[in-house]
Formats: sequence, structure tokens, C-alpha cells
Amino acid sequence: MEKFVVTGGRRLTGEVSVSGAKNAVVAILPATILAEDVCRIENIPNISDVTAMVKILKTMGAQVRVPNRTTLEIDTRHVRSFVVEHELTRQLRASYYLIGALIGRFSRARVAMPGGCYLGLRPIDQHIKGFEALGADVTMEENAMVHVEAPALMGNSVYLDVVSVGATINVMLAAVKAPGLTVIENAAKEPHIVDLANFLNTMGADVRGAGTDVIKIRGVKRLHGCEYSIIPDQIEAGTYMVAAAATRGDVLVKNVIPKHLESITAKLIEAGATVEEYDEAVRVKMDCRPGHCNIKTMPHPGFPTDMQPQFSTFLCLAKGTSIVSESVWDNRFRYAEQLQRMGANIHVNGKSAVIEGVETLKGAPIRADDLRAGAAMLIAAMSAKGVSEIEEIQHIERGYENVVEKLRALGAKIERRNFPDEDEDAQRTAG
Ligand code: EPZ
Repeated sequence: MEKFVVTGGRRLTGEVSVSGAKNAVVAILPATILAEDVCRIENIPNISDVTAMVKILKTMGAQVRVPNRTTLEIDTRHVRSFVVEHELTRQLRASYYLIGALIGRFSRARVAMPGGCYLGLRPIDQHIKGFEALGADVTMEENAMVHVEAPALMGNSVYLDVVSVGATINVMLAAVKAPGLTVIENAAKEPHIVDLANFLNTMGADVRGAGTDVIKIRGVKRLHGCEYSIIPDQIEAGTYMVAAAATRGDVLVKNVIPKHLESITAKLIEAGATVEEYDEAVRVKMDCRPGHCNIKTMPHPGFPTDMQPQFSTFLCLAKGTSIVSESVWDNRFRYAEQLQRMGANIHVNGKSAVIEGVETLKGAPIRADDLRAGAAMLIAAMSAKGVSEIEEIQHIERGYENVVEKLRALGAKIERRNFPDEDEDAQRTAG
């Protein structure tokens, strides 16, 4: 097993380049199942969720070429099976996009239930509601497989009872080749929804309105191959912005779409940071203790839940009291316990946290409970006094490409260490 050993107290300075968006690529890779030719996709991040999704596609019969480090060429013409029993589906949430893509291609799908970060209950009732509205029969099998039969898929209106990224994407995938008009109302508006729509349209689909709460999809008979480049990762960018501010640093975060970062930028400015926007970069500077502020997570364009743990960690160092309300997930404050071990004064009550800022955090042994909690632990460790050891780093590597190298280039002192072996070795040497 590996852990990160972080010596805190160093300002982050310099430049960092953001990779392709995890939550876009994990929808776009399954969407290639709908194409009748090769899709060349650029700006692919090297993260373990992508590795898992590519492995699943390969086990289904897809041919995948890697012409360079950030590009994949995917040929799904030889995929014959509509069944995905692979254990890997349980490693990531996005494996449920295979359901929408497979029913779009084969009119049927049997896919093992997805996994992903534990953030409270993660129902898929809205996905099922959408598939059923298009004429599918959905059965949840006892062996945790979702079985969908859709011999005559047909466009229809789908009103989502909750704004769901996953359900919006899955209904888009299922509807894109269904005859007639599908209208998704109360759709999610996240940047990755727009990226998927752009990808599908590049393949010849007719998807309009993505980025608003009404998406209209007119089914087409065929989708061809295409060349496409994934958008930059909004949350990776936001994480480096907050890390810069939390360490009182000065960082130029490059290869971003500043519009996607507006809610994060606004809150950083409210807390006293300086944020300069350029065409494809933002520069974050902070040279004093942050001021307190409140945040409430909301679907896009509100403050993203996927930035909540990182921003709350930053607020642990603020002057005064901040209140953080989580309105998307029932259980996204598990990391607070780790921050308390570092001296943070954060108290969770249901879906909100009250944070009394302290002047400094102190290094401690901590754990990455999930992907964004892990990013928060990195920020806490880098801004703390002393050494922190972060375990369960595999969660962080699901969504942050080359995180150690990127942070080191900004001046962080961070090492990847095997344990228990190297620790025991160190103790033997010391003894
Ligand atoms: C996506 O998850 C992201 N994952 C999550 O990012 C992100 O936190 C979330 O959207 C919200 O932005 C991927 O894109 C792979 P939802 P998803 O469906 O699609 C309820 C990260 O750290 N709901 O928008 O699973 C649900 O319980 C990850 O990168 C239903 O009630 O989220 C939640 O309260 C973590 N029924 C709310 O909707 C449903 O059928 C939003 O969930 C579906 C969802």
C-alpha cells in the first residue's frame, strides 16, 4: 500500500496545468459504444477511473489505441455483448453510463450496479424513470445487476424529480438514437453535460439545450466516428485554486475555462484572495489569513459539491465562523473527523458544518475517505505545520492526474511512500 507524506507550511507558487475533466471523460468513453466508427479523443486524463473504464470497454470487445499520452482511439464496432458483469463496474460510479449507451446501441443492457465514492444514498430511480419513459423495461436483479429491455425505444418527455447529473447523461445516451423527440426537463447543467452533448453532436447527434435545464434530443439513425477534445477539469482547477489560497501562495492555474470556475472564484474573493482571470488561466494569490464566509452547495452554476471538502478545509484557517451547507449529498462531511485530528474546529450537524477558524493546523496521520475528501486532506496537510501522512490515497488517484508531480512543481514537499515496508525499514535503521 502507498501513502503520501506531506511536510506542510510551504507556500505554493508557480504554474500548474489542469488535465481533462474526469466527469466528462467517464461519460464520453461509454458514449463511444454508440459510434459506428473510430472515435479519437484527446485531452484524456491519466487517472484510475479512466483506466478502469477503458478496461471495461476492452473486455466488451472494444479496440483501444493510445497514439500519445493524452489521446485514445476507440473502435467499438466489434462490441457484441450487452452484458457487463465486470467487477470493475463497482470501482466507479460512471459505469452506469454503460446502461444508457448499450440500450442506445443494442436495445438491451445487463450491467452490474455501479460503485463510486460513498456520499450517502446514491439511488438510480431517476435513471430508471428516464429509461422507462423512453419505453424500456427495467428489472433490478437479485445479483445486483440492472437489466433493461428496450426493443422499441421512442423519444418522450422526461421530467427529472431531482437535478441529477447521472440521470441526465444516461437519458441523453439512451435517447440519442431513439426515433422522435426526447425532452429532458429539470436537467443538470454541469460543464460535463455540455461536453457530452458536444461530443454526441460531433458524432452526428441532434442534442440541443445542454447547459440549460431543458435538453431536446431528436433521435438520429446513425452516429459516426469523430475527433474530440475533452474540456479541462473544473474541480481539479478549483482544487489547485483553493490549495494556492490555503497555503498563502501565488499560483497560475492554466488550461481552464474561467467561466466554469465562477462560483469558486467568487467565494475565494469573498474570503480575501485575489483572483485574476485570463482567457484560459486564473491566477490565485493570498497573502493573509482568509476571512470567514458561508457556502451552500448547489447543482451548477451553484457552488459545486465536489469542491465542498476542499473549501471547508480552507475555511478551517479563516478568521471567524463559517457555515457550510451541503444540499446535494446526505453524507459528505466524513472528512471532518480527520481535520479535527489536525486541530480544526469543525462541527458537523447533519448536512451542515460550523467552522470556527483556527490560526494553524498541525500535521497528523490522516485518511482520504473518498476522492474529494482526499484532495481536502492534501490541502490540509500542505497548509499545516509539521508532517502529515495520508492513507487510502487510491481515492485521490481516481480523479487527480500526477498530483504529486504537479504539487511538487509548485513547491510542496510531498512524497509517495510504501507502507508498512518502508516505515519498518526506517525504524530498523533508526533502531
Ligand atoms: C455526479 O454524480 C458526479 N459523478 C459526482 O462527482 C458529483 O458529486 C455529482 O454528480 C453532483 O454534481 C460523476 O459525474 C461520475 P447526481 P451523480 O445524480 O451523477 C440524487 C466526484 O467527486 N439522485 O447528480 O451520481 C442523489 O442522491 C463525484 O467527482 C436521486 O435521488 O450525482 C443526489 O442527492 C462524487 N435519484 C443528487 O440527486 C437518482 O436517480 C445528485 O446526484 C439520481 C440522483
